[in-house]
Amino acid sequence: MPAWGTLFLLWATVEATKDCPEPCTCQALESMGLWVDCRGRGLTSLPALPAHTRHLLLANNSLRSLAPGTFDHLLQLQTLDVTQNPWHCDCSLIYLHLWLEDRTPEALLDVHCASPSLATIHPLGQLTGYELGNCGWQLQTSWAYPGVWWDVALVVVVTMGLILLASLLCTATEPLLLGSFSS
Ligand SMILES: *[C@@H]1O[C@H](CO)[C@@H](O)[C@H](O)[C@H]1NC(C)=O
Repeated sequence: MPAWGTLFLLWATVEATKDCPEPCTCQALESMGLWVDCRGRGLTSLPALPAHTRHLLLANNSLRSLAPGTFDHLLQLQTLDVTQNPWHCDCSLIYLHLWLEDRTPEALLDVHCASPSLATIHPLGQLTGYELGNCGWQLQTSWAYPGVWWDVALVVVVTMGLILLASLLCTATEPLLLGSFSS
């Protein structure tokens, strides 16, 4: 047991110092993850983060945006503090919005946007798609996907089939109706 303890401490120290980004301080947790503290370092972009990051503190920096997918490779990441940053809340910030909503929804109410002006009214958690700007680009990219045109073609074919069926039924019932009137 003491041997394992020593090994763990050694591993933890190595891990914590090895990948720790320059402006931040890192601390190994007993649960094997890392506590990465990057608060108040004037960061304008995110440093390369260690794979074992579990708690990430980014408060009080100059972060404006976050690329969608930024935290996808940090499988152990559980909590994120992104308060006190001049976030530019447009559609690209939906990634951060969804990330926080999934894991720590209450944290969304502490995140405020510095721009655009429409998005500064409410905390990030209460912003609608309208306030985040025109999020139509997501629709446009799906239209650019060729598979969509197969769906469109299918709908056209089915619609034409239905019209044809309807007209066939009409011509088939007309003589019957005429027949019943003439007798
Ligand atoms: C924010 O960070 C600056 C350094 O960048 C520091 O001087 C200031 O005290 C910090 N403010 C808070 C509220 O932590």
